[in-house]
Amino acid sequence: MSMITIDRRYFLLAAGALAASARMSFATGGMPAEILAERAKAQLAPAGYGATEVWAYNGTIPGEAIRVRRGERVTRNLVNRLDEATTIHWHGIRIDNAMDGAAHLTQEPVQPGESFLYDFVAPDAGTFWFHPHHETLEQVARGLAGPLIVEERHAPDADDDLVLMVNDWRLDADAQVVADFNNMMDRTHAGRIGNHITVNGLAEFVRPAKRNERLRLRVINAATDRVLTLGSTGLNAYIVALDGMPVDEVRPFERVVLAPAQRVDLMADITADIGSTAFLTSVERNGTFSLATFPVAGEAASSSRDTPNPLEPNGLPEIDLEGAATTSMVMAGGMMGAMPEGMHQHEMRDMMRNGQAWFLNGESGMPDEPMVRVARGESVRMMIDNQTAFAHAMHLHGHHFREVMPGGFGPARDTILVDARAQTEIAFVADNPGKWMFHCHMLAHQAAGMMTWLEVGHQA
Ligand code: C2O
Ligand code: CU
Repeated sequence: MSMITIDRRYFLLAAGALAASARMSFATGGMPAEILAERAKAQLAPAGYGATEVWAYNGTIPGEAIRVRRGERVTRNLVNRLDEATTIHWHGIRIDNAMDGAAHLTQEPVQPGESFLYDFVAPDAGTFWFHPHHETLEQVARGLAGPLIVEERHAPDADDDLVLMVNDWRLDADAQVVADFNNMMDRTHAGRIGNHITVNGLAEFVRPAKRNERLRLRVINAATDRVLTLGSTGLNAYIVALDGMPVDEVRPFERVVLAPAQRVDLMADITADIGSTAFLTSVERNGTFSLATFPVAGEAASSSRDTPNPLEPNGLPEIDLEGAATTSMVMAGGMMGAMPEGMHQHEMRDMMRNGQAWFLNGESGMPDEPMVRVARGESVRMMIDNQTAFAHAMHLHGHHFREVMPGGFGPARDTILVDARAQTEIAFVADNPGKWMFHCHMLAHQAAGMMTWLEVGHQA
């Protein structure tokens, strides 16, 4: 067995954790609970650094998790106390289009001082999250994000259920968010990569554990652009869900690549000896860092449990590959990538001057017309051709899709990482009427034009 060193600090800062103060919002007197989008301060950096000025939901980083049971309603009144407009998008939820929060497509942005009532049923059990969908890069980079957890009707067997929301911050020497959201270097390369990672708003997330304890870990990559590679030591974990959807077959976890916006649910059995420490890690080029630290004291059971059962399926519709409508998506632009067909160098330069760098089917920014219109209930196959030199985390709103692979389908996902210069094919059943965005969830890429939409009609 090879020894690995786990660095308990992420990059610039020294170790030490401070709990962010929690403030709850309650529903009282029949009024819907409020989500205030507001300025706040949070101790993101370790002790010795000052608090960071953030934008937060109800004052905390991350926003307090919303937890409901599958099939229950989520009712939240967004109150905008920021100086600029915002919306909330409920990422991964197969939701009524009017509640999707896509600014200018499904609703007008909520102006400062105004509010908007989000009210929808959560149809699927799983790990989801919410974030703004207006000026998304800046608003997420400043801290607006929170978990949305939909519990199964019958809870799976685990001793605890932990949400781990990972944020990637670009902080200056005073631990303040660097406001370089128009940075062309970020926009044309791998996005806005930060220099400080928090888990649940903490520089170091620590939870005492017991040997043979089983923890359900719901990991959410809320980074604007950073792709995480998860690893572990001192625990034995299984993948039970991806992007909120149960996997058909539970697989042992070794490494998982988690692109921005993606989630993984792990069942993790603590196997480290009493007195030692288990870690969920982030494996980076320059080292292995702890995302969650589990000092082991005492024993929960004399042996660890068997392989977990698959989670209750959410009942996604069956894809009809043969009868599917077909469409294709060519990604171009960025540094060292192909230019869209027919585009001239000088046109490209003009676009870059306006902060636009990426093209979906030859267009940069939200087009007036959808990339495709399909009938409700129709299956759709989409060829994706990434002609750029970077990977992209493509996210479809309102639906989960599957990768079409030689031997069958991949797992149901709402976000797929398409490697540089790679091709792939996805398929889904367009069963949710409305206007749905399809965009790169590397938010610097989205800001630089990497977005489009498709329309699902009301009748086949
Ligand atoms: Cu997580 Cu278009 O969003
Ligand atoms: Cu991208």
